[in-house]
Amino acid sequence: MAKEIRRIGILTSGGDAPGMNAAVRAVVRSAITYGMQCIGIRRGWSGLINSDFKLMTGSEVSHILSRGGTILYTARSEEFMTVEGREKAVNTCKLLGIDAVVAIGGDGTFRGALEISRMGVQVVGIPATIDNDIGCSNYTIGFDTACNTCIQSIDKLRDTMQSHERCSVVEVMGRDAGFLALYVGISVGATAVLVPEVELDFERDVVRPIQNARLTGNTHFMIVLAEGAGKGFFLADRLKKELGLDARVTVLGHIQRGGAPSARDRETASRMGYAAVKALSEGRSNVIIGTREGGLVETPIEEALAMKKTLQMERYEVLEALKNRLPRDSVV
Ligand code: F6P
Repeated sequence: MAKEIRRIGILTSGGDAPGMNAAVRAVVRSAITYGMQCIGIRRGWSGLINSDFKLMTGSEVSHILSRGGTILYTARSEEFMTVEGREKAVNTCKLLGIDAVVAIGGDGTFRGALEISRMGVQVVGIPATIDNDIGCSNYTIGFDTACNTCIQSIDKLRDTMQSHERCSVVEVMGRDAGFLALYVGISVGATAVLVPEVELDFERDVVRPIQNARLTGNTHFMIVLAEGAGKGFFLADRLKKELGLDARVTVLGHIQRGGAPSARDRETASRMGYAAVKALSEGRSNVIIGTREGGLVETPIEEALAMKKTLQMERYEVLEALKNRLPRDSVV
């Protein structure tokens, strides 16, 4: 029989994502609804080690639903990787009377959550990362806003690339995953999308799409590159040398992680935050909340960490099919 939860600790950890605040708000307000108290842990797992906390009242989270970033701050903690660090964190939970921790973040956050769950702290995870690379959830908070940020920037870039008949190489985030790049690439009608999941073949992945685009009358080109697939400046150099293109690089960088969360991110974060508290109130913990087929599911953390989300390669077919303006026989 799981211990009754009276006090929840809430933290955000790892890279931030738009909608984290909406999730924090949802957890705090849902806790109040279920008669629990909420302690905000600042700076992720390191806040738990250093007793860096504040009591979260319902009004503390007023007007944060629309704000990017995280009011709790976030960090990646080296100390939490050590047994001593985790022991300190568990001790803080005991001292503060924290019965369960809701951890909002990505893969690294959940690995931390698994470790302290093994040390007796009840945990529930909420997936928030612009990479959308959490296996147990179709969707992660922040992805939609980041996609929209990329799309808005690339639309602007396209205007000037078209005027100057240039080739744009846009580097988007995604150290290990190409979900963001592929989604954005389809949404902007990119000439090519390069992702970490597919080893780059310059001739096949870059030269041929550009040649085909030229044949269909294009005089400007848009290459979307996930950061884990290679370096934009290196690619642009090659495009200049080998194809004589006037290639320009734009690294969208951390701009992708900021900004007011989209409707999808606010709504998903609100539902996930509520689901996390509801699970705890009903005696379930050591799970990660995720989306599947429109609804929310709970997956045990260990199982969730073993799940791998693979890039939907069939989306490349869509990308390719929508480039065609001329009959098939006229392209190489
Ligand atoms: O949140 C994950 C991510 O967006 C990766 O795609 C990227 O490589 C990383 O964050 C960069 O984060 P930081 O600069 O904060 O280390």
